[in-house]
Amino acid sequence: MILSITFFDAKSDGSASGTAAQQRAVDELQRAADERLADEANSAPSRPGDFSMVMNGAKLYARNCARCHGPRAEGVVNWQRRDATGNFPPPPLDGSAHTWHHPRRQLANTIKNGGRVMPSFGATLTESEISNIIDYLLSLWPDEIYALWAERNEKYEQRFDKQAR
Ligand code: HEC
Repeated sequence: MILSITFFDAKSDGSASGTAAQQRAVDELQRAADERLADEANSAPSRPGDFSMVMNGAKLYARNCARCHGPRAEGVVNWQRRDATGNFPPPPLDGSAHTWHHPRRQLANTIKNGGRVMPSFGATLTESEISNIIDYLLSLWPDEIYALWAERNEKYEQRFDKQAR
């Protein structure tokens, strides 16, 4: 009882009278603060795909996609404007455009089936090659864009799972 009174007194007036309980409380606060700082420092979301998958994706991207979407997936200037033929130019895939609106399954389908202008790759790339390319593209995205995408993708997958059951 006496100990706990000492503890509360010490806490409320902020004096450092140095009881063991007070020291423990201070240590606890310090530890919590350190953990919070460490969490913030580590909050950059980890990306899918290990190093060799992402490198393979980069190689496949360079071979199949770079001629239209650019060597760093930066797309074409004015990609939002239709060209003389009425088609849209290749958009950036580096996270600066709206590619992050599309979950992984949709990205894979676009690559498999192509678009109005974009050729289809379903016959020339395997599922895992397409997946490696997507991992490579995700590795280029800024943290906050990737985090938004990951959240949407997760929700989409959950809906997809429900429908599949
Ligand atoms: C001949 C040029 C060309 C090539 C090669 C090409 N694309 Fe495209 N891509 C386009 C164009 C143009 C669009 C816009 C849709 C359309 O009109 O086809 C597009 C759209 C996309 C989209 C949809 C982007 C969005 O935000 O909606 C993705 C993803 C994509 N391409 C990925 C790829 C990948 C990955 C490759 C290589 C495997 C590739 N593209 C190769 C021209 C190309």
